[in-house]
Amino acid sequence: MSKQHINRRDFLKGAVSAGAAFTILPSGFLSGQNAPSNKLNIALIGADGRARAHYNGLKNDNVVALCDVDEKHLAFAAREFPDATHYVDWRKCLEQKDLDAVVCCTPDHTHAFIAVWAMNRGLHLYLEKPMGISVEEVRLVREAYMKNKDKLAVQHGTQRHAKPNFDRVRELIQDGAVGTLSQAHAWGNRQLRRPGYPKGEGQPPKSLHYDLWLGPAPFHPYTPEYFSGGPGMNCLQWNMYWDFGTGQVGDMGSHTMDLVWNAIDAGIPTSAAAEGEKYHPEVTPVELTMTFEVPANAWRPAIDVAWHQGGAMPISPRDYVDLNKIGHGVMFKGDKGFLVASFDNRIIIPHGDDADMTYYNRRSEDNIIEPMGDFQQEWLDACKGDLKTSCDLEYAGSKMEMMMLGLVAYRAGKKLEYDGVNGQVTNDAKANQFLKHTYRDGWVING
Ligand SMILES: NC(=O)c1ccc[n+]([C@@H]2O[C@H](COP(=O)([O-])OP(=O)(O)OC[C@H]3O[C@@H](n4cnc5c(N)ncnc54)[C@H](O)[C@@H]3O)[C@@H](O)[C@H]2O)c1
Repeated sequence: MSKQHINRRDFLKGAVSAGAAFTILPSGFLSGQNAPSNKLNIALIGADGRARAHYNGLKNDNVVALCDVDEKHLAFAAREFPDATHYVDWRKCLEQKDLDAVVCCTPDHTHAFIAVWAMNRGLHLYLEKPMGISVEEVRLVREAYMKNKDKLAVQHGTQRHAKPNFDRVRELIQDGAVGTLSQAHAWGNRQLRRPGYPKGEGQPPKSLHYDLWLGPAPFHPYTPEYFSGGPGMNCLQWNMYWDFGTGQVGDMGSHTMDLVWNAIDAGIPTSAAAEGEKYHPEVTPVELTMTFEVPANAWRPAIDVAWHQGGAMPISPRDYVDLNKIGHGVMFKGDKGFLVASFDNRIIIPHGDDADMTYYNRRSEDNIIEPMGDFQQEWLDACKGDLKTSCDLEYAGSKMEMMMLGLVAYRAGKKLEYDGVNGQVTNDAKANQFLKHTYRDGWVING
């Protein structure tokens, strides 16, 4: 059996039983002193804000490195993890020799960089959503994962995936509760309107390494506005600007489209179209509808998948069902009816006043999908075990590539045909320029 096919837990068990507990293991395997207790050595990159939601879950392992561009945030996280080494530059942090894994909670424009660098260095990865802010970034992150998937456990941070409703919706769709599927819609109602990049204001506080915060993004002057949202909500202060995020497409879109993605077993779409408010070169759109053609698979025909946001909504199947009451929701349409769901529950609306649902074979209790348990714990266990996670970057990669492609169609202003194997628009050569971002000198994504 090749080394790649021995999972970590089996490898460690083997090493311990052979009396080799203190053997120095190759990079990417749990390092010697932690092998007997099977603890991971973790770098938490982006140590405050969203990271707070990870603190408790990481306490059973060793957080050995904290990285943040704001030294005050490092000091805050150090109260939780007093033994960790501190960094302000994630590139230096990833050089720390004893690392097994990275949890990345930085702003969106750095995700793809940190993800690819971490996986290239053989480190397990929990990557907050979204995987990247362009088609090219998402594809590079997925490629890095695919090269390493026999060695690494990687989770895309869409933690709502652990809600039981995700399984129930999947069961209903796959068992034919709406008949043969033809459409799937997801939407989000958040509206964060911005006029353009804020004007520069004042000087960065001494604790903040603003140039590192900008990282690969083109230069924009400092303003306290980017930092005014409060822990875990600060993303809403910068993610509406194209150089730092993708607005609601990458934000709640990552989560809500996940409820569709989990049910439809989809790959990369063959086309994308989008309409919404007028394109603004600085600010991502609020009102937007993106529509995709997703190829057939073994159990369903080709279907249309759509994302609606900022007030744009699919048409409700019944006038007494107000979809607007579901802030972040999904709707599936089949030849026998509709399924409408929030993150937590769902309703089925069969076609026809006399529909008796006899077309639908409810699955037996012993075939109900097993709950996945805690989302973050699944990743921690996978790092030490079979490497399998529910939201790995193959699964999340096709979803996020689709979402980013929708923004390309929005920018191109036309329906785009897409070759998902080569990552190229095939009916408009000029649109290919929108698949990627430009970065400041010195920043390399595939490092
Ligand atoms: N899964 C979820 O439900 C959820 C919820 C909130 C946020 N998020 C995601 O978490 C990420 C962070 O969001 P936030 O609101 O905490 O943002 P934030 O602006 O507060 O940044 C988080 C932390 O990262 C630090 N940081 C910024 N740039 C860095 C860099 N280059 N290197 C190291 N540290 C850096 C900040 O100082 C801060 O401590 C976003 O990508 C967002 O999409 C996910």
